[in-house]
This record gives sequence, structure tokens and C-alpha cells, in this order.
Amino acid sequence: MRAAGAAITHYDPFSPECLDDPYPYYAWLRDEHPLYYVEDYDMWVVSRFQDVYDMLGDPELPFEAREGTVPTRAEMLARNDGPVPPLPLDPVAGFTRMDQPHQGRLRGFLNQPFRPRSVSALEDWFRAMVRADLPGVLAQGEFNLPAVFGLWTARTMCHLAGLPAEMAADLRDAINESSAAIGDPALGLDPLDGLKRISRAARLAVTTRRDAGADGAHPLVDRVINASFEGRPLSDREAAAQLVVPLIGGVETVPKVTSHGLWELTKNPDQLAAVRADLAANTPVAFDEMSRYCGPAQWFSRTVTAPVDVLGRHLTPGQRIIFLIQSAQRDPREFPDPDAFRWDRQMKRTLAFGHGGHFCMGIHLAKMEGRVILQEFLSAVEEFDFDGDAAVRSASSFQKGWDVLPVRIRRLAEPS
Ligand code: HEM
Repeated sequence: MRAAGAAITHYDPFSPECLDDPYPYYAWLRDEHPLYYVEDYDMWVVSRFQDVYDMLGDPELPFEAREGTVPTRAEMLARNDGPVPPLPLDPVAGFTRMDQPHQGRLRGFLNQPFRPRSVSALEDWFRAMVRADLPGVLAQGEFNLPAVFGLWTARTMCHLAGLPAEMAADLRDAINESSAAIGDPALGLDPLDGLKRISRAARLAVTTRRDAGADGAHPLVDRVINASFEGRPLSDREAAAQLVVPLIGGVETVPKVTSHGLWELTKNPDQLAAVRADLAANTPVAFDEMSRYCGPAQWFSRTVTAPVDVLGRHLTPGQRIIFLIQSAQRDPREFPDPDAFRWDRQMKRTLAFGHGGHFCMGIHLAKMEGRVILQEFLSAVEEFDFDGDAAVRSASSFQKGWDVLPVRIRRLAEPS
């Protein structure tokens, strides 16, 4: 932990001090080093809202995702010292690591269930599932809130992928483990094992749907199976690789954002009362502020693929550039009083879901699930609080979400 008041002289996203409390570092970077160079990883760091927004949104900039968007420290320590070739197309990797135009084409095979109309059609199913589960969950009195919400989002992804609902708990746990990129032995987490279990689920989805005829009933999988890419069909392994990041994104973020957001509301009882005053109208607004304030993923990385000058510095091929989303979301140049949680904050723009070519594919699903979870939980529970002393953050090098956040149900709402 950084000594109180100690001057900041360096930023390293993987240092224990930054992982413990990145916000003072973000303020230092934004004010003094809006484009900061980290020698150890041959990496540039962008921290101001406007700069992140402009650079992620500029398709002309030679920043590509071919080394993955959340590399580990070990991967970052391996310097490229020169250009990195594009990923091979045979076999083809998951679309989130591909560069244009391939990323866009592959993404197009997957995004149908995440469009607004498809998500609207899913809402009744999701709400009914949540309502069926809530009484039994609330009867426990005290439980880990992100784990319960995570079971619901995992069931949704199983539903979309044609996987049995019984797999949801393991999928949720595998995804949480896979994000533990620093592999904290005290928590018994093994990121590689988590990733293998997610990949196995993705393979099972593909083989199950292929055996069933891939007739379009589960478009998330069927459209990838039936896709023609570079003039040929994808193998099962290639098709499964496309599903891995959607499964991860679809399971892990909404539970962390909503449970942390509910905690913020209990710390601000006036705000909780204001949200309760009209749940239908206010929960979508509160979810937007939760996505700004409680977003777990701290940064996303790209690799420089051609020489380029930005913000007065010369970047060369093979270098990395990371975009500090959570620093941008706390930039006072964009958000007045940014470190305060305000459920009804007016926002002209947000980077909560990224920007540009890798903009979040699941934003409509995230917003629907977030709204329904908040509505159903707050309708059913009159009084609740959190055991902050028992809360545990993800042991991750790129995330600061809550894996353990015990909620105590004090009083249920009267049945209406
Ligand atoms: C509150 C919930 C969520 C937040 C805050 C969030 C945030 C983000 C952000 C910031 C990115 C950009 C990453 C980058 O620039 O490299 C992203 C990408 C992505 N998200 Fe989400 N996400 C959420 C929910 C979801 C859901 C429900 C899905 C369901 C499929 C999803 C799927 C994806 C995928 C597949 C990408 C990568 C897109 C690409 O590389 O083309 N996310 N998300």
C-alpha cells in the first residue's frame, strides 16, 4: 500500500500500490502526464477522457488488438522491439483479437442476439427467471450478492448459447477465475484453469448446436457455425474461439456493476430513496452512473502497428498503448465532482462501454439486465445493508470489481 501523502513518481498498472488504489495515480497522470511512457513494458498510457475518446474512436490510428486487450504483466514484459505481424487467418483467432476488416466481419456473425430488438424479446424471460429465484435467495438472509446476480447473467448466456442452465454456476466461477490475471494463491484462483473451462463450454455450445442442425434457434452459435469466412466455414475450434469473450463479457460485468452500485446507494440513503420513488423510470438512469462509477475493467490495451505521432510524442510499431477507462470516467474535465456517486448524474458521453471498433457488443443486454436486476431486487427488499469488512475485490491485474460483497436482508417488502 502507498504511504499516505507519499508523492507519486511512477505509474505501473501491475504494482501492488496501483492495484490497491489506482485513483491517486490516475489523477497524477491526468494532471501531469496525459501520455505517459512505462519503460518496463514499452507501453504508453492515456488517462484523460477526451484523449481516450478521440483515440479509441479514430479508425485511422494504427492501434490494433492483435496481442489481446488485457495482456498479463508477463506478456507486457516481453518487449516486441519492432512490428508485430497480424494474427494468422488459418486457424482464425477470436474476433476481439483480430484487426480490421476481419474483426468487424467476425463480430457480425455474433451480434444478432445483442441487438435492441432481440434484447427486448429476452426481457420477459430474464425477469421471470429472476422472480422465480428471488424468494429462495432472499430467504437466506445474508449472501454474496455478485454471485447471485452472476448466476442470473450466466444463465442468460447459457440460454443464448444453447447450454444447459445447470452449467451456469461453473461458467460464472470459471469466468471470475479467468480474470484473476495475477493468480492470487490465497484465493485459490487459477486463471488458466478458468479459461480452459470457458473454452470447454464454448466448444460444447458449438458441438451441441452443430449436432442439433444449427437451424437458427440459437443465433449466437448457429450463425457462427453457418458462417463463411475468407471463403470457407469455420472449424468447431474456430467457432468456439469466437464465443469466449462474449461469454466472459456477458457474465461478469453486470453483476459487479449492479452489486457495487447497490452498495453505493446504501451509503447514500437519500439517493436510494430517490431511486425507489419511481423504479421503472429511475433504474436505467442509476445503472448509467453505476456503469461509470463501478466499472471493474480499469484499462484496455492495443499494439501500435505503424509509426505515429500523438499528443506530441512519437510512437513506434510494437509498442503498447493502454487506455485507462476508469481514469477517463473519473476525469473532472468531463464529469464535475467525478469521485462522487450521483445516481442521476447528467452525462453527455461515457466510456463505460468503450468506444470505436471494439465498442461493447453487449451494451443493450447489459442495460436490460442491469435495469431488471435493480428493479426486482429493490421491489422485493425494503431494507438491506452490506458487510463491507467481508468484501473482497477481484485479484486481477486489470479489474477492480467486487467478487465477494455480502448483503444482509433486513426487511422484505410487503407483497403488493
Ligand atoms: C455493465 C456491463 C458491461 C460493461 C461496463 C462493458 C464494458 C465493455 C468495454 C469497456 C468494452 C471495450 C473493450 C475494448 O475497447 O477493448 C467492451 C467490449 C466488449 N463487451 Fe462489454 N461490457 C458490459 C457488458 C457486456 C455484455 C452483457 C456482453 C455480452 C455479450 C459484453 C460483450 C462484450 C464484447 C464481446 C466486447 C468486445 C467487442 C469487440 O472487441 O469487438 N459486454 N465491453
